[in-house]
Amino acid sequence: MPSPSPAPRVGAHRDHGFHPLRVARVVHETDDARSFVLDVPPELRDAFSYQAGQFCTFRVTLEGEAQHRCYSMSSAPEVDDELQVTVKRVPGGLVSNWMNDELTAGSVIDVAPPSGVFVLDQGDGKGEDEGEGEGDVVAYAGGSGITPVFSIAKAALAGSERRVRLLYANRDRPSTIFAEALDALAEQHPDRLTVVHHHDVVDGFVGPEAATALLAGARRPQAFVCGPGPFMDIVEDALLAAGLPPEALHIERFSVDDLPLPGLGAEAAPEPEGCQVTIELDGQIATTEHRPGTTILQTARQLGMSPPFSCEMGNCATCMAKLVEGTVSMKRNTVLDDDEVAEGWVLTCQSVPTSSSVRVAYEEG
Ligand SMILES: Cc1cc2nc3c(=O)[nH]c(=O)nc-3n(C[C@H](O)[C@H](O)[C@H](O)COP(=O)(O)OP(=O)(O)OC[C@H]3O[C@@H](n4cnc5c(N)ncnc54)[C@H](O)[C@@H]3O)c2cc1C
Ligand code: FES
Repeated sequence: MPSPSPAPRVGAHRDHGFHPLRVARVVHETDDARSFVLDVPPELRDAFSYQAGQFCTFRVTLEGEAQHRCYSMSSAPEVDDELQVTVKRVPGGLVSNWMNDELTAGSVIDVAPPSGVFVLDQGDGKGEDEGEGEGDVVAYAGGSGITPVFSIAKAALAGSERRVRLLYANRDRPSTIFAEALDALAEQHPDRLTVVHHHDVVDGFVGPEAATALLAGARRPQAFVCGPGPFMDIVEDALLAAGLPPEALHIERFSVDDLPLPGLGAEAAPEPEGCQVTIELDGQIATTEHRPGTTILQTARQLGMSPPFSCEMGNCATCMAKLVEGTVSMKRNTVLDDDEVAEGWVLTCQSVPTSSSVRVAYEEG
């Protein structure tokens, strides 16, 4: 069972800290997926306001160790009063199975406020055409990747005039999360929503033709892709080859293992030789020589520490720490704002040293 929650972290410019939220309801979606409706108290409503497609980071202590995982909202603020996430079991996975088996209505779980950039582009009305930025939504989801995509589809249908096309890949119909809800949505919006179900047991895996077929004839398409790594790679390659501008392609990766090599496409930062890295965490202070190519987070692990982390993709801020001395280069940051960076906060999963000595301090708790 999880242990009591430590106090929420404080000190950051925005609220990246954890708050205990009560589970209002658990919905059985499929044999291996549950939705969790969270009760957000009035004083936290602003902190937990979100855009369709964003996620929250959850913290749970299992066997004495804090685990952090991100789960995207399957609700959309445009149509759903309550905040809901949907979690699919990963074979052998620690937290997804614990949530499916143990997290019940009335349980309390630590959740950090929403973040993420996998969201609809908002039209500014200043484009060459009325509604610039509000092109058709062309979405590709595989398995649990439907979670943010379902949220985005609902938001686009309720909050704009956009048309939505969805290619949704699953093993078969019984394993399809939100199958009935999508049918109902398509009935509600027959002229604006098209859902193409792809069942691997019948159709084999999704290939490039299926990806480009969905794009054909779309008006200023904005593509949203979320699913298993190989699925996303095929769809991404097919869409770019079909001429979709890269800025119209939005991809959400659930696992760091899904990142295309060599990783993030970031430019290599110059890393000084012999740099000394000092890390402060939970009352421990340790120093070691930096190994080239290693992030501060990895260095903390090499020192035998258990630093907090979740996405390892620069998306969630679970790994943030204060840079006390020296300089670092962050490969990717979609979550800390400019003021926080100016105050010295860094994402340790994305930071490599750029000075001869570096010291970072994780917050207590
Ligand atoms: C931005 C974002 C949004 C996300 N949204 C969702 C969502 O809406 N819904 C959803 O279901 N998921 C979502 N995820 C994925 C989620 O965060 C977790 O990664 C997922 O639930 C797996 O966590 P786990 O603890 O169950 O698995 P883990 O314990 O982390 O294991 C993951 C994999 O590693 C393997 N593994 C674990 N330990 C070992 C070991 N010792 N040796 C070998 N292999 C091992 C497991 O078998 C499994 O295959 C999201 C992720 C991100 C980054
Ligand atoms: S672990 Fe998510 S930003 Fe570093």
